[in-house]
Amino acid sequence: MHFFKSLNLSTKDRKNEIPSSFRVGEVVINNLNPLGGMFKKGVTKAGRISLSGNLNDGTKVKVYESFSSSQINLRKILGDKLEKEDTLFPPILASDENFIVEKWISGKRLSEIKPNILDKYSERLINFIKEIHYDSSFNEIAKAHRDSFCYLSDYLMMRLKPWQKWFPVENLINEWIKSDSETEKIIQTRISHPDLSLSNIILCPNENIYIVDNELIGAGKGWLLDERNSFFRDKVLSPKYEDPIKNFYNLSWKLRLVGSALDEGDFYRAKRMADLKRI
Ligand SMILES: Nc1ncnc2c1ncn2[C@@H]1O[C@H](COP(=O)(O)OP(=O)(O)O)[C@@H](O)[C@H]1O
Ligand SMILES: [Mg+2]
Repeated sequence: MHFFKSLNLSTKDRKNEIPSSFRVGEVVINNLNPLGGMFKKGVTKAGRISLSGNLNDGTKVKVYESFSSSQINLRKILGDKLEKEDTLFPPILASDENFIVEKWISGKRLSEIKPNILDKYSERLINFIKEIHYDSSFNEIAKAHRDSFCYLSDYLMMRLKPWQKWFPVENLINEWIKSDSETEKIIQTRISHPDLSLSNIILCPNENIYIVDNELIGAGKGWLLDERNSFFRDKVLSPKYEDPIKNFYNLSWKLRLVGSALDEGDFYRAKRMADLKRI
């Protein structure tokens, strides 16, 4: 179990502060600041702790909670495999069975780069996603980490769960479950990274590109939505699937749209997006 080590807060700040230090394995992280936090400070949309901070020697880090220890192993293996490439993940400085501490990367977010210059870098991310989806060594890693994290069942489905008794959501969930089992043997398990947005990617002065938001990395069928979820969705051709894969793809995208509408409290949009007649 993890406990906040200290709460050095003045009475005045007490209500609005998060703990000041945190321990992962043998490593202590100080000067904590929340990252993400749509609903709660320092807690991501997926409900996990995510903070920036400093090690005792001053090194800036990010510390974040994983879904499972298998997801941590997957993150480590992928990190090692990509280590020598120019599009890669930040080095891991510490981890335990729940948390990962990774180096803070100094550079520019792609969201801060002018669109005409961005094209050059988009290409590298398009190749990155192709590599993790289709390279046979990545496919082997995916098969060995089926239990790590599935973007569709461990995130999108979980996000809808509180509303599963609301008819539009119930209907969508039932159709998705049916389609999931129909495609079980047809759609291959691959590595998935569904969070390639411009603000999650940092360009360094040496032209290396770091992908810094990796809490939704996993294996399963989630890869189907990776391109559509990415900043380069308009630069790649839309996939042309036949049923039953096409149906599964459309229903999975609906899970995604209905979930974001519910996150925003927009039930009107959620109902419209859940409508099975609308593609
Ligand atoms: N390891 C890192 N190195 C540099 N910047 C980071 C790192 N991790 C996160 N950031 C910055 O912090 C921002 C928020 O962190 P992120 O994990 O993407 O949270 P969220 O997307 O939930 O807001 C990112 O967009 C990025 O700019
Ligand atoms: Mg992010």
